[in-house]
Amino acid sequence: MLFDTHAHLTDEAFDEDRDELIQTIKNIGVSFVLNAATCLKTSYKSLELAEKHDFIYASVGVHPHDCSGAQDGDLEKIAKLASHKKAVAIGEIGLDYHYDFSPRELQKVWFNKQMELARDLHLPVIIHDREAHEDTLEIVKKYKLEKGVFHCYSGSLEMAKELIKLGFYLSFTGAITFKNARRSPEIIKWIPEDRIMIETDSPYMTPEPYRGKRNHPGMVRFVAEKIAEIRGSTFSEIAALTTKNGREFFHI
Ligand code: NI
Repeated sequence: MLFDTHAHLTDEAFDEDRDELIQTIKNIGVSFVLNAATCLKTSYKSLELAEKHDFIYASVGVHPHDCSGAQDGDLEKIAKLASHKKAVAIGEIGLDYHYDFSPRELQKVWFNKQMELARDLHLPVIIHDREAHEDTLEIVKKYKLEKGVFHCYSGSLEMAKELIKLGFYLSFTGAITFKNARRSPEIIKWIPEDRIMIETDSPYMTPEPYRGKRNHPGMVRFVAEKIAEIRGSTFSEIAALTTKNGREFFHI
């Protein structure tokens, strides 16, 4: 039993074989997938996919990259979509100062608006923070949400400690299997067992030994294997633990 808590199956990388692939990943032991939205369009598409497949759930929201393309009224539409029974989180939302695809001030406006929305709707948030640790922390601290996860966690151990104290979960991708993953082992060794989740962020972040190929939720097993190796645990213990955490986090 595995829970991929962050995938983008609505990405065009899956247009050719989406339905076939979804059957395959179900057959190889992935019991739950959270499909993360990045804009209004993918919020709709995520929910469509979740309606079609019982083991797929959706988040709705606007990614920092997509703030520039968002329209007036999108927030209200997202708020409406969030009431769908398979919409289990607001995300992914946050700040990305690595690519700066949207102006930073606009990213902050959208991040704040969606944190407010999550607070009002009592939904967990999926946070994307890339090279924007300081501003992200400042914003999340303002809202005292019930639940949030830093997806594809890339910060320091020090920041991890602060986030855990604030009640956050941390989620890890195939990036932890890369040879240059220096920070993640100490964080994974340290993190309390009830705050860790796993994800693929597919089609991106393909784990070793398949780095360079298209990623998909079936590859979440390599993330679980790596965590088991680092924590001196077994694959099935980590699979069970991260699935339990994911189900509690998203209330499913
Ligand atoms: Ni993502």
